[in-house]
Amino acid sequence: MEYKTLNNGVLMPILGYGTFQIPSSLAEQCVRSAFQNGYRLIDTAAAYFNEKEIGQAIKKADITRDQLFIATKVWVQDTGYENTLKAFEQSLQNLGLDYIDLYMIHQPYGDYYGSWKAMEQLYRQGRIRALGVCNFCMERFVDLFMNVSIKPMVNQIECHPFFQQRSMREMLKEYGCVMQAWGPLNEGQRNIFDHPALKNIAQKHERSVAQIVLRWHIQNQVCVIPKTIHPERMIENQAVFDFELDEEDLKQIASLDIGYSEIIDYQCYATAKIMNKCKIHD
Ligand SMILES: NC(=O)c1ccc[n+]([C@@H]2O[C@H](COP(=O)([O-])OP(=O)(O)OC[C@H]3O[C@@H](n4cnc5c(N)ncnc54)[C@H](OP(=O)(O)O)[C@@H]3O)[C@@H](O)[C@H]2O)c1
Repeated sequence: MEYKTLNNGVLMPILGYGTFQIPSSLAEQCVRSAFQNGYRLIDTAAAYFNEKEIGQAIKKADITRDQLFIATKVWVQDTGYENTLKAFEQSLQNLGLDYIDLYMIHQPYGDYYGSWKAMEQLYRQGRIRALGVCNFCMERFVDLFMNVSIKPMVNQIECHPFFQQRSMREMLKEYGCVMQAWGPLNEGQRNIFDHPALKNIAQKHERSVAQIVLRWHIQNQVCVIPKTIHPERMIENQAVFDFELDEEDLKQIASLDIGYSEIIDYQCYATAKIMNKCKIHD
């Protein structure tokens, strides 16, 4: 496993296991399988409704706690100082842990400044090892960065060959923040696994399209958390550290960028409305 050093010196695996849309009925088994196949970073969220089952997998794993890197997130409904302290305790309890490696604000909505205050406090108490945000556009990111004392270490954001986020990548680099791609395989959309240009590159390297795409992220210094429920794909998605894409491959992939998301539009006011309305508990 290769690691990225966060701005506070904490090492985060470059490649982890995503658990969005893994139903609670499958989550324990999937995460156990991910552990068996060498994954150490698990990405979840209160809003994925699978923290408890992931907690069971962690409990049953024969891996010491310091070898694991567990990331979870606070939902919009639980933003604000007091709410976030409560939500954090709930996530810890669900996961059966006494600290979280990376705690993130899930959406750039609600009272996330209040959340950040709570997160800074928990960080200082040693209950969180790294603080992050998700889906923060460049303006929101810089505004947060300039108004908090503990700076965000990770921005988890949609990124894949069809939405490459180059300016975001440059901006985060300038601020010493690691970019972690969600939807690194575009959630399988746009027929990514059958895309002719990606298939050509895959053939050339005798790899799968998924491996080419994940390798591309890593060569761009972007961390990844691909999700799959299939053990053979877990293995495939991890085997990306023993080959390199060349200039020509990178040029071809660069040309696939359409420059916007087809999954979710964070520039649209309806997104703020939907996210604020979405409740994950009473
Ligand atoms: N912060 C946020 O707002 C946010 C939003 C979305 C996601 N995330 C995080 O990012 C993680 C990854 O993103 P994602 O789950 O949305 O999408 P993704 O990892 O880009 O794609 C997952 C899809 O690709 C398929 N797949 C995976 N590996 C494959 C392979 N080797 N060959 C063929 N198909 C393959 C999976 O199918 P099978 O499962 O059937 O293999 C699934 O349909 C999430 O799980 C979650 O942890 C965060």
